[in-house]
Amino acid sequence: MEFEHVIRQRRSIRGFKPDPVDKATVLDILSLATRAPSSMNTQPWHFHAVAGAPLDRIRAGNTERNLAGVEASREIRMHGPYAGVHRERQKVIAGQLFDAMDIAWEDRARRQDWVLRGFRQFDAPLSVVVTFDKALTDNDIAIFDCGAVVNCLVNAAWSKGVGAVINGQGIMQSPVVREHARIPDDQVIMSCVAMGYPLADFPANDVVSTRRPVEDVVSFVGYPDA
Ligand SMILES: Cc1cc2nc3c(=O)[nH]c(=O)nc-3n(C[C@H](O)[C@H](O)[C@H](O)COP(=O)(O)O)c2cc1C
Repeated sequence: MEFEHVIRQRRSIRGFKPDPVDKATVLDILSLATRAPSSMNTQPWHFHAVAGAPLDRIRAGNTERNLAGVEASREIRMHGPYAGVHRERQKVIAGQLFDAMDIAWEDRARRQDWVLRGFRQFDAPLSVVVTFDKALTDNDIAIFDCGAVVNCLVNAAWSKGVGAVINGQGIMQSPVVREHARIPDDQVIMSCVAMGYPLADFPANDVVSTRRPVEDVVSFVGYPDA
């Protein structure tokens, strides 16, 4: 696929066919993703491709602990609730997804069901848990590098016909992920990406998220007409 086509067409996929993503495809996607730039080419990332029974155990443990009110335990710093313009943008995408899935704001049961789907990594057949070397904690550069590689990963997947959603919800309970994905002690869990072949008849998969106009996010300095 053309680069521009991939970038413009990619969207987060939240409904997956049960078909597995085979190892060769995972390797193909990751070999593209790892062309991402990183600080001084340190490539601090690791990928743990989790499927089958271990992934089911992660879904179950994550859901169980979240429902039991166990406080979220991420291994990177988290923001609190979004406010202001960020909250407004969050509400727009939530509204688009709920509209697509025909979930009314007042329908607490179905909204809760949607949240639970997120905790279950949208029942994807594959979760790629992204980690980085613990030696690089206490600064934000490795986190920047992981963001770069994850962006490359979701676009690489899309270019190969594999859907993906970066899924912070899926690793809210990091000890569960650490145990069942067998994450080594010298790595920090950054996030996970739920992946698989997109379901055609799952309306949330057709949602095109909005973006601020590019003129609103850039300022030019030193340009003749600035
Ligand atoms: C750090 C990060 C965490 C995310 N976590 C979730 C999540 O837990 N659940 C979810 O449905 N989407 C999650 N997303 C996906 C975003 O909602 C999505 O990328 C955004 O709304 C833009 O939509 P698009 O990917 O379709 O362009 C996450 C994205 C990022 C970058």
